[in-house]
Amino acid sequence: MPVSAGATLHARIGHLGYSQDECARLEGLLERVRALKVRRKAVILAHNYQRPEIFEVADAVGDSLGLSRQAGILPGDVILFAGVHFMAETAKILNPGKTVLLPNMAAGCSLADTVTAPALEARASELRRRHPDLAVVTYVNSTADVKAVSDICCTSANAVEVVNSIPNRTILFVPDRNLAAYVAGKTDKTVIPWDGDCHVHQQITPDGVAQMKALHPDAVVLIHPECRADVLKLADEVLSTEGMIRFACASAAPSFVVVTECGLSDRLTIELPEKIFYRACQLCRFMKANTLEDVATSLERMQFEITVPESVRVRAARAVTRMLEVPGAVPGPRPAAPART
Ligand code: 13P
Ligand code: SF4
Repeated sequence: MPVSAGATLHARIGHLGYSQDECARLEGLLERVRALKVRRKAVILAHNYQRPEIFEVADAVGDSLGLSRQAGILPGDVILFAGVHFMAETAKILNPGKTVLLPNMAAGCSLADTVTAPALEARASELRRRHPDLAVVTYVNSTADVKAVSDICCTSANAVEVVNSIPNRTILFVPDRNLAAYVAGKTDKTVIPWDGDCHVHQQITPDGVAQMKALHPDAVVLIHPECRADVLKLADEVLSTEGMIRFACASAAPSFVVVTECGLSDRLTIELPEKIFYRACQLCRFMKANTLEDVATSLERMQFEITVPESVRVRAARAVTRMLEVPGAVPGPRPAAPART
């Protein structure tokens, strides 16, 4: 008996609210994208917050930096980065010989937008008058220009290790003040935060998380370090997105409260259907800007190409590569369901 249109995809993502008709439409698009990937010799990298249908055609799913490293390992001339602008830029910084595409130019980042290179240089030189050994440690959620005027980068997975790995005692931590406060609590160094935040994680309140904990007292509470300090206090584990997935895979616990952008809960329910994930999450409109149609159009028209001026790229690559050299600081991403691509 023929399988009805959309049934395979519906079996995988129907529980996330996708109708059978919508899955049939998406399956048609998935076929188009698979053919275009072959034609363009392209790989698709998808961040953990992307729409579930995009995971279906991704060669790797993970966090921003792990994906950029993956970009250098996977074959192909073209990297389509289903994520936000700074992630595609990081892929270009590390892979200058490849064409890097972002499917939708509305996929920016309000956190990355809180700092510019001139403002950072001015603040760092003012602080250096009082703290001559100041180092600028920059979260990868930042533009290439900002990375280029930084001493070293970090991710949410390795920020503490990176700060502790450098000899400097005073750190200007850019741009996320919540991640800076988390790091300050885990090091004896002086951490001066940049005054930026991710509006998505900032909206998550202690009351909302406390309510979820009260409803599900046995669930393990996983919280992203971009959340406020009063929210992090409620965590059993403070983890990056990839860290949450690794933790949930390895844990014997049957249920979790997941406190970050909602895409991560989608990913977890797809990857680990036998476990329960309660949501205390918010949506990032930048991450959700990319649709499967955008992915297909991007590969068809080879748009929107991400470029980084070579003088900026070389300096930004120095800060990113210095982070990659910190021992044990960046676990690699896990490949996403290669059988479906
Ligand atoms: P990670 O996936 O590195 O934890 O980052 C979270 C994030 O907000 C990316 O925009
Ligand atoms: Fe930027 Fe926050 Fe969205 Fe991540 S979740 S892309 S940090 S706005």
